[in-house]
Amino acid sequence: MTAPLTIADLRQLAKRRVPKMFFQYADSGSWTESTYEANEADFKKIKLRQRVLVDMTNRSLESTMIGQKVSMPVALAPTGMTGMQHADGEMLAARAAEEFGIPFTLSTMSICSIEDVASATTKPFWFQLYVMRDRDFVMNLISRAKAAKCSALVLTADLQILGQRHKDIRNGLSAPPKFTPEHIWQVATRPAWCMSMLQTKRRTFGNIIGHAKNVTSLKSLSTWTHEQFDPRLSWSDVAWIKEQWGGPLIIKGILDVEDAKAAVDTGADAIIISNHGGRQLDGAPSSISMLPSIVDAVGDRIEVHFDGGIRSGQDVLRAVALGAKGTYIGRPFLYGLGAMGKDGVTLALEIIRKELDMSMALCGKRDIRAVDRGIIAEG
Ligand code: FNR
Repeated sequence: MTAPLTIADLRQLAKRRVPKMFFQYADSGSWTESTYEANEADFKKIKLRQRVLVDMTNRSLESTMIGQKVSMPVALAPTGMTGMQHADGEMLAARAAEEFGIPFTLSTMSICSIEDVASATTKPFWFQLYVMRDRDFVMNLISRAKAAKCSALVLTADLQILGQRHKDIRNGLSAPPKFTPEHIWQVATRPAWCMSMLQTKRRTFGNIIGHAKNVTSLKSLSTWTHEQFDPRLSWSDVAWIKEQWGGPLIIKGILDVEDAKAAVDTGADAIIISNHGGRQLDGAPSSISMLPSIVDAVGDRIEVHFDGGIRSGQDVLRAVALGAKGTYIGRPFLYGLGAMGKDGVTLALEIIRKELDMSMALCGKRDIRAVDRGIIAEG
């Protein structure tokens, strides 16, 4: 293959480099994967309005997300087990994001810990919180995020119970994990991945092991994780989290106008329209199909962010045009990481920036902050 030119190229490279069970962990959705597929497919239905003979010099993609400067309105989404796509994956991705001038969001379910990522970076990153039943553990996580000077807390609201992903079960990524000769074969046939994993000590869940009560091994962790997602979580818990945290709060996983209104009432700084990348409720609408109605309902009262299905800079442009003040990419940066480590994350971001910049120009706009629904073609 020639040098990767698209996110799809990076995906192909990652598929060759990362053991199947971990590649498929990233590259799949829940149940029939219909929502996962719709996230990407619905973007293609949105046509852009070509404009000509407008001055296209001096273009700018700079913007802000929750008042923080970004070199383009794209952040790295929180993704669990990122350190399994590449050794020290969270630290590498955070560094790439920092150099690019965009936010990195560390997942609660990361391999590298909050402290690892803080030691690898010089600027604040964002922390994503899963609210577990053990509220002492949650309070401790929040304190650790504060100590690491994280500049936003992203509260994920759409995972009170875990959506079933058939590929993960078939690959043995279940609770407890099942290790078979097939796994050894998958790992043995990916020597570069294997070597890098042997060279790092960060191979388990750094935010949890040694911090959660009685969780000292992978086995106890998997039982703990399974039991700890909290089905009773409600809007009143959001007020408690907001109080504990005391900083900028973003609620992630909103896909419904009524939920968006409830999120506004919590006083959060932003919401992320998201269906968890098609990993939770299969059969839910694509994220992009819900963006306009949610922006119309609450866009004047809260900052609206977006994720799900972005595979190019054009998709970022479409989401911004439909009212997203910021967007997040999950799989595109994971493919980059799996393919080429930190350089791959940087390349994924460069691909997206170039496509975003060129498409914006060809729609007759020079400043991303001036992009609105006027660039969407009718019909
Ligand atoms: C996720 N996502 C996710 N979200 C979250 O709040 N906490 C998490 O730990 C994870 N873990 C996770 C793992 C993997 C492998 C993926 C692909 C996704 C969801 C993520 O933040 C985001 O909503 C989606 O990835 C966006 O869709 P795209 O960009 O991947 O299409």
